[in-house]
Amino acid sequence: MSQLAPRLLAWQQQYGRNDLPWQHPRSAYRVWLSEIMLQQTQVATVLSYFQRFVEALPDLPALAAASEDQVLGLWSGLGYYRRARFLHAAAKQAMALHEGELPADFDALLALPGIGRSTAGAILAQAYGLPYPIMDGNVKRVLTRYHGISGYPGLGPIEKQLWLHAEQHMPQTDTARYTQAIMDLGALVCRRSQPDCPACPLQDDCVAHRDGLTDSLPSPRPA
Ligand code: ADE
Ligand code: SF4
Repeated sequence: MSQLAPRLLAWQQQYGRNDLPWQHPRSAYRVWLSEIMLQQTQVATVLSYFQRFVEALPDLPALAAASEDQVLGLWSGLGYYRRARFLHAAAKQAMALHEGELPADFDALLALPGIGRSTAGAILAQAYGLPYPIMDGNVKRVLTRYHGISGYPGLGPIEKQLWLHAEQHMPQTDTARYTQAIMDLGALVCRRSQPDCPACPLQDDCVAHRDGLTDSLPSPRPA
């Protein structure tokens, strides 16, 4: 069995990010909003937008009841306005179908506008304690290096392998911390350039580290 999760969990407690605003308090609504904002925007930029958004619209019913103008106004500066429109539409659907809550159910989440497999996983793992993985650039980088997977991670078959690994590593408990851990490792240690392997809790059995492949993995997009 993989011992990746316990090592990541112990590392996260000491070195990870534990003061993000969507962690305190943690709710499905706040996790969802943060994930949508983080899709195309860096954490440092998201922080102030997130605070402003949840001060104005603190929960899903408030978002559903807001005008489109208000939602787009709160999004203004983040770009990719389609995300804000989907967010608003999903809130209205959750009012109609799920009594104003985000459902703790993978298929029901996937059926909401703007929620894909990774965002559904992020909500289930971080807000509901369910063992569903997330997949973003950080996770792809950690897993391609750790397992020594070559091939551009945006390609279907490579992505499929990465999801299988992600599912296998997912612990049954501490799912919120684990999810944060793998993203934090990718952002802080297993960085795109000059990863800090000596500080990494996975160095003992990481294929890229062992074989000197950290510079060539993840593989670039084919020309
Ligand atoms: N990217 C997506 N979700 C994130 C999170 N919770 N923390 C940091 N980066 C993220
Ligand atoms: Fe990334 Fe290096 Fe850790 Fe491997 S040992 S996961 S390459 S930081």
